[in-house]
Amino acid sequence: MKRETMKSHVKILATGGTIAGISRAPAQSEYCAGQMKIQDMIDAVPDLTHLAIISGEQIANVGSQDMSFDILLRLTCRINELMEQQDIHGIVITHGTDTMEETAFFLNLAVNSPKPVVLTGAMRPANAISADGPLNLYNAVAVAADPDARERGVLVVMNDRIHGAHSLTKTNTTSVETFLSPVNGLIGTVNYGKTAYFRFPFRRHTYLSEFSSRFCRPPHPLLPRVDIIYACIDMPPDLIDFSVSAGARGIVIAGDGNGNMNQDTLKNAARKAAQGICIVRSSRVPTGTVSRNVEMNDDTLGFIVSDELNPAKARILLMLGLSETCSRDRIQQLFYSY
Ligand code: SIN
Repeated sequence: MKRETMKSHVKILATGGTIAGISRAPAQSEYCAGQMKIQDMIDAVPDLTHLAIISGEQIANVGSQDMSFDILLRLTCRINELMEQQDIHGIVITHGTDTMEETAFFLNLAVNSPKPVVLTGAMRPANAISADGPLNLYNAVAVAADPDARERGVLVVMNDRIHGAHSLTKTNTTSVETFLSPVNGLIGTVNYGKTAYFRFPFRRHTYLSEFSSRFCRPPHPLLPRVDIIYACIDMPPDLIDFSVSAGARGIVIAGDGNGNMNQDTLKNAARKAAQGICIVRSSRVPTGTVSRNVEMNDDTLGFIVSDELNPAKARILLMLGLSETCSRDRIQQLFYSY
């Protein structure tokens, strides 16, 4: 039978978050993330079975502020294992929204398949008035079941939008319209399961990523410690010393503006770069790129720029980069490729 005439099989891997959260009462903002089990979430949206054959698995049940590399590596390994099965056509991951962009970006580098991998979540707990989780789950399954979603990298479906893992970022603490893709725009839209695509990712991803074959089965590469330091007025330069003495092999500066930091921090960062610590300049500004040699000479100072990646995603790429190479030029190239 041809694929178009068959229902896709979509596996839902649950990790927790507000989509699995329960509040004290439908109109109260107080709630606890990661309470519902995957089968209850599937049963709550019976129309999912019109879109695909559905099965679920519980990977974890945490608020995404407690997402860890331990869970992330188990999730990655399970995705890569499932994607080798011919009868699995796509995967949905339910996840808290707080760190969803980090997980999406990590998977975008580590999943070894062109099949759709779609993260979704919710801003309102499952029993809230106008809970957004059920429709987000429905739309995410529609995208994961859609052969046209293949080869588009890891996607995030929230509030009718299809975002790419490279571009999306959370912009509002409570609104259902929290995720935006300000630098590169949306991958597409999905409205009650009807998909429309605008573009493919501009950067390397999933089966085209040089990292993805290393996450198919354990042992996984050892990921070194990389810290993020947030720039501000009178930023204390010794935060860098603390990170390095605690074992960081790389530091991402969430710089002001185009990746700036005060003179004392700059001098300390350059000293650390000369000692072999990888210093990446990113920005605390939510949109725009950080470019080389504009307001400071990165060539002389030994710095790397994050280009389009925000500090949280720059940290993930630097961890993966440092697990393979210490070459500053090579790591800079990674920031232009992913
Ligand atoms: C979380 O990230 O787990 C809590 C917040 C959310 O899912 O919206």
